Formats: sequence, structure tokens, C-alpha cells
Amino acid sequence: MNTIGVGLIGTGYMGKCHALAWNAVRPVFGDGPRVRLVHLAEVSAALAVRKADEFGFEKASGEWRALLADPAVEVVSVTTPNAFHAEMAIAALEAGKHVWCEKPMAVTFADAERMAAAATASGRATALGYNYIQNPAIRHIRKLLGEGAIGAVNHVRFEMDEDFMADPEAPFTWKSEASSGYGVLDDFGVHPLSLMQFLFGGVTRVMAQLTMPYAERPAGAGGRRPVETFDIASVLLELPGGASGLMALNRSAWGRKGRIAMQVFGSKGTIAYDQERMNEFQLFRAEGRGTEQGFATVLTGPGHPPYERFIPAPGHGLGFNELKIIECHELLRAISGEPAQIVDFARGLEIERAVHAMAQSHREQRWVAV
Ligand SMILES: NC(=O)c1ccc[n+]([C@@H]2O[C@H](COP(=O)([O-])OP(=O)(O)OC[C@H]3O[C@@H](n4cnc5c(N)ncnc54)[C@H](O)[C@@H]3O)[C@@H](O)[C@H]2O)c1
Repeated sequence: MNTIGVGLIGTGYMGKCHALAWNAVRPVFGDGPRVRLVHLAEVSAALAVRKADEFGFEKASGEWRALLADPAVEVVSVTTPNAFHAEMAIAALEAGKHVWCEKPMAVTFADAERMAAAATASGRATALGYNYIQNPAIRHIRKLLGEGAIGAVNHVRFEMDEDFMADPEAPFTWKSEASSGYGVLDDFGVHPLSLMQFLFGGVTRVMAQLTMPYAERPAGAGGRRPVETFDIASVLLELPGGASGLMALNRSAWGRKGRIAMQVFGSKGTIAYDQERMNEFQLFRAEGRGTEQGFATVLTGPGHPPYERFIPAPGHGLGFNELKIIECHELLRAISGEPAQIVDFARGLEIERAVHAMAQSHREQRWVAV
């Protein structure tokens, strides 16, 4: 395969990330097909034309089905709001395209199941936007856990907090609509769940409480609209090996900008990580004299692949967009039939299963098996 034709649906926050990744993946990794940016779709033709010009796409449409009908498009990035994922991803698979779809997979579990079935039936490669598992620091933490660096894991804690919905007067958007899902579970919870899947093989049972800090938000022309989703979640959970865990989520957390804090406690040590400082992790090993024991801060560098693909110098740091470039490269590996480190639609369904178990747990106020 010498070239691959790319289609992009949606050009907001994630649409731009995907466009940057498609532009950079070959220069960064120096392998795989040449990437041809073929077709971009937005809600209006005018916006599509403007974004195609900015992002470097050849064609633009105000109707996403026109993009799917384009035979030159071989892989489609779906970066629209959650409510559109299932319909667009399934149509793309049925049109014979590979699909890179943003998280969460779908709003309802039935739709996520339909997406997984469509992926299997199509034989095409799929990937979901679980970019945080691509961090060289996270990959190295998995290696350390596999080597038994902190012994047997007995407890984990995950916190994901941001403050973009902390202001009670922040306007009503699609994120507060029930059509986007439960709220913080789909928006945030899926990310720690992708890390738990990557590091520990998933979760086995959950007990969740969901809360809504603000009942309504401003909705244009001086009006207000009732909020339909939960912004805060507190979850007890259990991992496959029996270790216990906590997951705390809050998208109304003043001062937190991109926190995904993780602590993994084992019989011989502890590993700690926070996405707000994504180029480092802390490792404590219970060895040597207690008087000199303490957490070591490890900065990522060329010894933590694929960091070396970006910069030869250690400690200089990668950013969020680099994670998307790595994810894009893994998808290209999957497309060419090589082993790939991605959350495909089959693995994504397991994350959705956990999300819906949490919502059920909240409704029924009890532990729910995943
Ligand atoms: N992986 C991550 O870390 C991450 C981060 C943020 C958002 N997301 C996910 O990405 C998705 C998009 O979020 P966002 O923050 O980029 O939203 P956004 O509002 O910034 O962008 C969405 C874009 O989709 C376009 N769009 C809407 N309906 C469309 C249609 N029918 N046809 C074509 N285009 C259409 C909108 O005009 C807009 O440009 C969400 O599912 C979200 O959960 C993932």
C-alpha cells in the first residue's frame, strides 16, 4: 500500500487533532503509506470549504454521506458529537472504510453493540479515541507492572477532573444534553476505563454515585435550560485480579485543567502518574534502607518508545497532539494487518459495558457486575 485516502467528519477540537495527526504520522514514523487528505465534511458547505483549506484536504462537503460515497476515501475519522458516532461509523464501515472514531463509542449500549457487529462484519480496522493509553509514560508503566516492579497490585485510584463546566453560568452545550449520554461517565470515565483496560485488563464490578452540581444553565437569549446529564461521578470498583479501586470524575472541578491522576499500589511499591504532567511518572520501590526511600520522578525520553520518534533529547516533552499521532500510527498498523495497540470497537464495547454498569449501579444503588 503506497497511499491511503483520508476522510474527516467534523472539524472542532478533535477534528483538528485528527487532521494534525494525519498530516504528521508519516513524517514522525517514517513508515506506512503516504497519507492523502481527500475529503472533509462539516455541517455546512461553507465551513467545510474553509476547514478543508486550513487542514489541507482536497474536497469539502456539507453532507457527510457525500464523503462516504467518495471512492478515494479509505479511512474515515469521525470527530462529531457523541450522538452521531454510531450512525456515521456504521455507515462508513458498510461503505467499506476503515474507521477512527472519537470516544465514547456510542450513547446507548445497543448502538455500541451494533458498531462492534458492523466492524466484525466489514473486516475493516477500527480505532476509538483513547489517546491516553498511547503515552510513552503509560506504556512504560505497563512494562513495569508486567515486570513486577511494584509486586502484586492490590489497589488503584483514578481521578479525572477538568473545570470547563465548573462555572454555573457556563452556557448549555450538547454536553449537557441527554442525547450525549450520561455526562461525565461517557465524557471522562471512559478514559480512566481505557487505562484500566490497558494496564489491568478492565474492571469486573462497580458501585457508582452520579451527581449534578447545577440544575440548569444559560441557553441563549436570556433563557435557561435544565441540565440533563451528570457532571460528577464517584465509583468503587474491582479489577480482574481482585484488587480494589476508586474512580472519581468531575468536569466542574475549578482549577483542574487536564487531570487524570492515577495511583497504583502494589506489594513492593507504588506508581503515580498525572496527565497534567504527562512527561513524567513517580516510582516508589520498597527496597534499600528506609531512611533513603522515596518516590523517584522519571522523565520520559528516547528509552520510552515511541518518544524517540518525535525528539532525540530526553525530558523535552511530548504533548496531547503527539498522543493522537501515535494513535493514528497504531491504526495504520492495524489497517496493514500488523499487531496494534488500539482500542478497537470490540475492546471499546467492554468499556461501554462498564459505563452502562455504572449508570445501572447509580439507578439501583447497588454493586453491578460488568
Ligand atoms: N479523545 C479525547 O481526548 C477527546 C477530547 C475531546 C473530545 N473528544 C470527543 O470528540 C467528539 C467531538 O468533540 P469536540 O470537543 O471535538 O466537539 P466540537 O463541538 O469541538 O466539534 C464537533 C464538530 O462536529 C461538527 N459536526 C456536528 N454535526 C455534524 C454533522 N452532522 N456532520 C459533520 N460535522 C458535524 C461540528 O460542526 C463541530 O465542528 C466527542 O465525541 C468527544 O467526546 C475526545
